[in-house]
Amino acid sequence: SVAALLHRDHDVDHGDRPVTLNGYVRSVRKQKRVAFAALGDGSSLHTVQAVLTPQQAEGLSTGAAVSVTGQWTPSPGKEQSRELHVASLRILGHNDASTYPLQKKYHTPEFLRTLPHLRPRLPFNALLLRLRSYVTAQLTSYLAEHDFVQAHPPIITSSDCEGAGDVFTVTPETPASKPHPDHDFYFASPKYLTVSSQLHLEALAHSVSRVWALSPTFRAEKSDTARHLSEFYMLEAELAFVDRLDDVMDLVESMLRALASGLQSSRVGEELLGAHARDLDDAGARDHDSAAMAPTTLARRWQGLVDGPWPRITYDRAIQLLKHAVAQGVARFDHAPDHKDGLHTEHERYLADAVGQGSPVFVTDYPRNMKPFYMSPSADAADDAREAPTVSCFDLLVPDICELAGGSMREHRLAELSRSMEEHGLHHALTGDAETQPSDASLQWYLDLRRYGSVPHGGFGLGFDRLLCYLSGVSNIRDVSSPRRTPRRKHP
Ligand code: 4AD
Ligand code: MG
Repeated sequence: SVAALLHRDHDVDHGDRPVTLNGYVRSVRKQKRVAFAALGDGSSLHTVQAVLTPQQAEGLSTGAAVSVTGQWTPSPGKEQSRELHVASLRILGHNDASTYPLQKKYHTPEFLRTLPHLRPRLPFNALLLRLRSYVTAQLTSYLAEHDFVQAHPPIITSSDCEGAGDVFTVTPETPASKPHPDHDFYFASPKYLTVSSQLHLEALAHSVSRVWALSPTFRAEKSDTARHLSEFYMLEAELAFVDRLDDVMDLVESMLRALASGLQSSRVGEELLGAHARDLDDAGARDHDSAAMAPTTLARRWQGLVDGPWPRITYDRAIQLLKHAVAQGVARFDHAPDHKDGLHTEHERYLADAVGQGSPVFVTDYPRNMKPFYMSPSADAADDAREAPTVSCFDLLVPDICELAGGSMREHRLAELSRSMEEHGLHHALTGDAETQPSDASLQWYLDLRRYGSVPHGGFGLGFDRLLCYLSGVSNIRDVSSPRRTPRRKHP
């Protein structure tokens, strides 16, 4: 039979029966008559103390994979209530301690990022993998309970949804170098790795009303920052039959509130707090790559997600607040806040801290010229009262990470959408002329959604890896996703 994972086994009462445990040696201490090995298997932060004879411990070093059989015995040590007296030990995989890169000591984040294939073995990185899995499961069940249908939109597409030009182009191994005789040949027109599944989800929302996806997303970002990856996961949802941006924001807010409240009483949550506490106590034992955060700070961060309602302010108001803060001397920025210039990261950071007071902040109704073609005008389009026409959209800002999610109402009227596409320079997508353009380079299919039974709808996209950073207190996005592409990563 397969031995249980340690997190299940360590507190089971086996009576006198022998138990078998599999794991990795986290550390080994050899004395004259006895040796102690701490065994872990990544299923929890918990380690089991295995008591060995010096013979058994011969050739055993940190990182080796072992299978041990023995008997639980009350432990005289204060670290654990019981320990495993090992009758037989099998080394499944030797570890050459002289070359093993992950010694039992603190390693810098930069060093660990050079070992994306070995880094997941560190207990904290294993915990982050379990957090990713936990968050996926929680959000999946939350959305299912709220009647959202999970979809698997295409990854290779012909459209650049955000129109920012940050696309990776996909070419088949044997490209159609001369004009392909078959216009239907998929690669006859440019294909990209998706930058967002939104347009496809809009099509599906017109089928099942509420739809969502958690998909790999690709951006040929030049931004090499602690918050940007070239390949990341985005959670996107689209809701038909809603006509208020507030309904979309309500969904984001209640979904993340339910997630944080579950995390507070979960094993993963408890382990995260424990890991940060241990790392602060004992920097020498710290094995992970981002600065430890005081557990009370992390707990307050989760509580800030649970508390509500989260503030919602317009872009205009945000600019006013920023200017006011500068005038009052309570904030200083490298870029003076200006309505025309949009929000710089430093501005977002200030708003998240000062307006949110520990909770996330929605900034809504950005100027039309700063946002993509598909957004509809602000609800109370009292544009004359505004400095510039605005659209019905939001960015969700949180401390440290800044933009965690973005969403909007979608322009669902055919004439208005066509006009907006023209204004955004998408003429080719409008014509879809088969003579000059392969037909699928056009967004005629997207306009069809407005031609046939169009309904008011809206949706959002949430950076999944950024969410994991925020929940785990890990400051660099490279350290929650392993291994994930960044502009500089070559192997593996
Ligand atoms: O704000 P973005 O670009 O919005 C969209 O793509 C919409 N079409 C989504 C929608 O409405 N369905 O991206 C959404 C989120 C951002 O708020 C950010 O959290 C994350 O995706 N994101 C990134 N995360 C990591 N690395 C990058 N390079 C990211 N770019 C965006
Ligand atoms: Mg955005």
